[in-house]
Amino acid sequence: MAGLGAVQAQAQADPAVRGKLLFLQCAACHAVTANGGAKVGPHLAGIVGRKSASVASYKYSPAMTKAGITWTEASLDQWLTGPAKLVPGTTMLFPGLPKAEDRKAVIAYLKTVKP
Ligand code: HEC
Repeated sequence: MAGLGAVQAQAQADPAVRGKLLFLQCAACHAVTANGGAKVGPHLAGIVGRKSASVASYKYSPAMTKAGITWTEASLDQWLTGPAKLVPGTTMLFPGLPKAEDRKAVIAYLKTVKP
């Protein structure tokens, strides 16, 4: 299993690599390119720095439409801790990532997905 060991070593060195693996659980609902096609959730290309509910072609929940959040590392960390806590009424049915290091890694990965 030298291959897997190498991936794990790389993942430890670079949080964005670990974040990409963790993102597999988000990828069921989110594309990371603007033309990634319609999924359950909006695409996340360029999400860091983006205003909440700003993908015009996506029909957000009323709660998210009103949220008025700018997605920074800090607000994404809050969101990924508990989506329904930050935005009560959101339709993102995801309980959250309980481990701070996992949230950090996913956010590091999200910073690499450009619009
Ligand atoms: C079961 C499907 C599902 C999963 C899994 C999921 N999401 Fe979502 N996500 C959604 C939906 C649906 C919305 C839109 C919520 C709304 O309109 O209230 C959303 C919204 C978001 C937003 C806000 C986007 C915007 O344009 O304002 C971010 C950021 C986000 N998700 C990140 C993630 C990350 C990171 C993960 C993995 C840790 C994840 N999501 C897992 C369905 C999902």
